[in-house]
Amino acid sequence: MNILIIGGAGYIGSHVAREFLDQGHRVTVFDNLSSGLRKNLFPEGNFIHGDILNYPDLLRAALGKTDRLQPGPKSGVSGGEYAKGGFDAIIHLAAFKAAGESMVKPEKYSVNNISGTVNILNAAAEAGIPNIVFSSSAAVYGEPAYLPIDEKHPTKPENYYGFTKLEIEGFLDWYDRLKGIHFAALRYFNAAGYDVKGRITGLEQNPANLLPVIMEGAAGIRPEIQIFGNDYDTPDGTCIRDYIHVSDLATGHVAALNYISRNNKSLKVNLGSETGFSVLEILETARKVSGQPVPAKIVGRRPGDPAKLTASAQLAKETLGWTAKHSDPETLIKTTWEVYKKN
Ligand SMILES: NC(=O)c1ccc[n+]([C@@H]2O[C@H](COP(=O)([O-])OP(=O)(O)OC[C@H]3O[C@@H](n4cnc5c(N)ncnc54)[C@H](O)[C@@H]3O)[C@@H](O)[C@H]2O)c1
Repeated sequence: MNILIIGGAGYIGSHVAREFLDQGHRVTVFDNLSSGLRKNLFPEGNFIHGDILNYPDLLRAALGKTDRLQPGPKSGVSGGEYAKGGFDAIIHLAAFKAAGESMVKPEKYSVNNISGTVNILNAAAEAGIPNIVFSSSAAVYGEPAYLPIDEKHPTKPENYYGFTKLEIEGFLDWYDRLKGIHFAALRYFNAAGYDVKGRITGLEQNPANLLPVIMEGAAGIRPEIQIFGNDYDTPDGTCIRDYIHVSDLATGHVAALNYISRNNKSLKVNLGSETGFSVLEILETARKVSGQPVPAKIVGRRPGDPAKLTASAQLAKETLGWTAKHSDPETLIKTTWEVYKKN
């Protein structure tokens, strides 16, 4: 298939692009490089430097009519060839993603996440692109009412970022109904790790998640890391999360696109490992893998942090035939540490 990956120069997007290329698809990345990196582009793919908030530019790209195409040296595609073929699907990963910041600067998230996605939906409708795979988030669920969280769990986001993702899922429902665009909304749990084959070396920009923070501790970028609370109702008192390796997320995108394009129907589905690991378990594994002491200090709880969050991935298994294969702490940390060492 011919795929337009919006946000494909970013952390998860580059892994998704790699997987589509590996599986023989044609890939064009559209990205404004606000947090994406040129280093994350592949010679077999094409690139368009553009912003989803600029509708005319986005539409030209979606129509394959842009004069801004930068063909990858090994893509075998010329500008003309690009213009001929329509896209079979958009993979939409472009967004701001810092939940804490979204509570202080909601307007930033309204514009980039919500208005940006409305532009993408309108461009897809105008260009006749029939499928969209969207990066949603477990943040749509909010405080867990039960565990593991399945797709029937109530959606009540605790932060504005999660609200933008839930709103977008609503737009996707309507564009499916009114414009016949099929979608897969992939509700990722905690994305972590780097390409298991070591082909992606661009570091995630401004990461706020546990694993990169611990890696910064191991690399000496941070003198000490903070553990937010050790008095939770969990075996070691620290919070438990469901970590999903980005290489697993990447295969999930390909499986989801195959499903919606073959069955002509949309779905909202969790992508998680179904296994929870505590902060201390991750920290201990990181110390072992890196051989570094990673100094850590226990500080107070952060407001709104649930003790435990784990996914049910049964729906992904049943519909997509997908399960996580690389989401054990050793693989998550080893692949991340390799990239930190290279940087
Ligand atoms: N990292 C996680 O744990 C996680 C969890 C759940 C959902 N998600 C979602 O997955 C997606 C990808 O996340 P990531 O971790 O790879 O983040 P990232 O910041 O590395 O990637 C986002 C990409 O989108 C691009 N982008 C942003 N705004 C743009 C715009 N206006 N026009 C064009 N390009 C734009 C950035 O340059 C970047 O390449 C996001 O939608 C995020 O909300 C991430």
